[in-house]
Amino acid sequence: MAELIIEAESLAYAYPGGVTALDGLDLAVERGRRLAVLGPNGAGKSTLLLHLNGTLKPERGRVRLGGEVMGYSRAELGRWRRRVGLVLQEPDDQLFAATLAEDVAFGPLNLGLSEAEAAARVAEALDALGISHLAERATHMLSFGQKKRAALAGAIAMRPEVLLLDEPAAGLDRGGVTRLLESLAQLSAAGTTLVFTTHDADLAWSFADRVALFDGGRVACQGEAETVLSDRDALGTAGLEPPLLLDLGVRTRDEALSLRRNAAPSRETGD
Ligand SMILES: Nc1ncnc2c1ncn2[C@@H]1O[C@H](COP(=O)(O)OP(=O)(O)O)[C@@H](O)[C@H]1O
Ligand SMILES: [Mg+2]
Repeated sequence: MAELIIEAESLAYAYPGGVTALDGLDLAVERGRRLAVLGPNGAGKSTLLLHLNGTLKPERGRVRLGGEVMGYSRAELGRWRRRVGLVLQEPDDQLFAATLAEDVAFGPLNLGLSEAEAAARVAEALDALGISHLAERATHMLSFGQKKRAALAGAIAMRPEVLLLDEPAAGLDRGGVTRLLESLAQLSAAGTTLVFTTHDADLAWSFADRVALFDGGRVACQGEAETVLSDRDALGTAGLEPPLLLDLGVRTRDEALSLRRNAAPSRETGD
């Protein structure tokens, strides 16, 4: 069996006021996978991601990273967040420095890297996302799509082993989604484990190799993307539609990605 990089064991969490968001959740992610956490609104997907990098502490259960049970002391959280990056759904919740370059440099500088090393990380991350020309732009002057890429650049500049992405495609146009998936495919090819949430079975189909179907604060089923996404009963129980592309006979992620690419506008959109 492949190495498990991150595991959630029997996680339970209720928000103040008593809403149960996670209800004995188990999840195991193999290193190098692209896992889609798929479920309807309110299923607990965002809450899970906040547990997987230690932002929220479960009432019961634990998180393991590379087999090791993670703790919540300041030092342990520091190590944890260096290895597991999180990109929030709303980029405005993530960006805070005056300019794009300063924002992306913040994490590397905080790791204790020199100015020169941090600058090299920033240049590499901005280049990977095609936003080098925006380096000196004020973050509040970026478009929504540019902000999404800026937040992702900040996460990849930390070179995490695992990257958690909350609804990475939400709010992007088709061209923006295609560009995002191409960047994520490069990270994946370089060995980064990707865990992303979505309520869109088509997105899961076109990008994930594993799917965990979420319902009511638990994983209803998990496995190979094609197996889970072909299970109409399980999807229906979770209130989701099967992927349209699967219905159309698109059998591989490569086919799905090339369809997206062909449908995308060829010129750079101003997203
Ligand atoms: N900050 C919060 N305070 C109280 N309840 C919350 C908060 N955030 C989420 N919830 C509730 O927890 C449950 C799971 O939410 P969430 O993890 O955001 O689901 P998803 O990301 O799948 O849409 C929902 O019932 C939601 O209303
Ligand atoms: Mg959410």
